[in-house]
Amino acid sequence: MTAALGGGAARDAVVVEPLGSPWPVTAGLTRDGATVVGGVDVRDLVAEHGTPVYVLDEEDFRARARAFRSAFSDAFARIGTGVDVYYAGKAFLSVAVARWAREEGLRIDTATGGELAVALRAQVPGPEIGLHGNNKSDDELDRALAARVGRIVVDSLEEVARVARAVERRGDGVPAPVMVRVTTGVHAGGHEYISTAHEDQKFGLSVAGGQALEALEAVVATPGLELLGVHSHIGSQILEPDGFAVAARSVLGLRAELAQRTGVLVPEVDLGGGFGIAYLPGESALDPAVAAEGLAAAVATACAELGTAVPRISIEPGRAIVGPAGLTLYSVGTLKPVAVDEGLVRTYVSVDGGMSDNLRPALYGADYTARVLSRPTGDVMTLARVVGKHCESGDVVVRDVMLPADVRRGDVLGVAATGAYGRSMASNYNQVPRPPVVAVRGGTARVLVRRETEDDLLALDLG
Ligand code: LLP
Repeated sequence: MTAALGGGAARDAVVVEPLGSPWPVTAGLTRDGATVVGGVDVRDLVAEHGTPVYVLDEEDFRARARAFRSAFSDAFARIGTGVDVYYAGKAFLSVAVARWAREEGLRIDTATGGELAVALRAQVPGPEIGLHGNNKSDDELDRALAARVGRIVVDSLEEVARVARAVERRGDGVPAPVMVRVTTGVHAGGHEYISTAHEDQKFGLSVAGGQALEALEAVVATPGLELLGVHSHIGSQILEPDGFAVAARSVLGLRAELAQRTGVLVPEVDLGGGFGIAYLPGESALDPAVAAEGLAAAVATACAELGTAVPRISIEPGRAIVGPAGLTLYSVGTLKPVAVDEGLVRTYVSVDGGMSDNLRPALYGADYTARVLSRPTGDVMTLARVVGKHCESGDVVVRDVMLPADVRRGDVLGVAATGAYGRSMASNYNQVPRPPVVAVRGGTARVLVRRETEDDLLALDLG
C-alpha cells in the first residue's frame, strides 16, 4: 500500500526511536521523523483508511499473548501443574484476533452468543472456548453445548438446573462441563463499576454467604453436569498481584471444603482476568511474570496447608493482551482556546470521533495520552483537552494532555492503549458509524473489521 501513496516512494520504516510505553511495541519514529507502527507510516494508514481508525499492532498482541502463556506455564510448572490462558474476547474480538490468540496457544473466553459466534467463525475448537454470562439465554446454552465448549461458567443457582435442562434438550447424553463463578469478597482494581467481586453486585455466588458451596453441591448432585472447577474474577485494571493471591486462597479453601463434604476434589481453578496495563507514560503494567510467580506461590502454599492436590489453573486476561496493542488515530478539527483560570488557557482540541469509539473516559473517568503523529511538531507545549464530536460536554477523549502548541486542523492525533474496550464498547451515538480496525505487521496493513457507513446504519432503519 505504501507504493500507492507518498508519491510512489517507499518510505523508510526503520524505527530509530521507539515511542515506548504506553504505545505499541513497534510504534516509533523513523530517521526522517515519521511515525510508523507495524512498519506502516501513520500518514499512509490515514490516507488509505481514513480517520478515526483503530490500529492494532499484531506483533504486540502476539508478544503479550506469548508472555502470559510462558510466564504462567513456567511458574505453575514449578509447582507441578498446568495452566490454560483464555483470551477474554470482551476486550476485543474479531475472527483474526481469535486466530492470533489461538496460534499463540491461548483459548478463548466468551461472554455472549455473539462472542461465541466469532470464536467459532475463527474455527476455534469448541473445547477451547469458555462461555460466561450472568444471564445466558436458552439459545446461548444450546449453542454452547452444540459447539461442545470446554466450559460453561455458571453464575447463579437457577442456572445449574437450566444447564441440566439444556443437556436434556440436546439429548446426546454428553455431560456439560461446568464451572461455578464465586465471589470471594476481594475487591481489586480501579473504578468501582469495573470491579466485579464485591458481594453486593450481580456476578457470582458468595463464598462467605454459602451460596457458592450450595451451587457447587448442586452441580455435583445434578445428572448431566460435570463439575470442572471454581471460577473467580476479582476486578479490572489490577496492578498488584496480592488481590489475586487472596482470592486464590479463598477459592482453594472452598474447593477443599467441597471435597470434604462431597468427596469431589474439582480438578480446576480459574482466577479470571483483570491484569492491569499502562495507559500513561511513566505508568507500569502488572508484569505477567510477577503476577504468575505471586499466584503460583499463593496456590502452592494454600494447597499445602489445606492438604489438597494443586489444581490445574486458568486465567482470562483481555485488556493486558489487546489494550496496549491498539491505538486510535483521529484527525484534528476545531481548536478552541478556553480561559479556565487566571492566566491558564486550555486548548480544546476536537477530533472526528469521541465517546462513540471510546466510552471509557466518559464512563469510568479513564485517562489516556495523545500525541501528534503525522508530522514533526514544535517543542513548545500547551495544555490541551482532546474532545470528541458528540453532543455532550462529557464527550472527552483525553482529559489533560500537553500537546504541541502548533497543533492544527488536519493533524493526525494518536491516542495510546485503546485496544481493549474501545471498539468492543463502541456505539452509534449521534448516528456516527463505527471506525474500522486495521491490523499492522511487517509493513503491511490489513482491515480486520471494516468501517461502518451511514448506509449500514440506514439499512437497519425500516422506516
Ligand atoms: N473474565 C471475566 C469473568 C471478566 O468478567 C472479565 C472482565 C475478564 C475476564 C477480562 O478482564 P480484563 O483482563 O480485560 O480486565 N469495560 C471495562 C472492563 C470490564 C471488564 C469486565 N469483565 C473497562 O473498559 O475497563
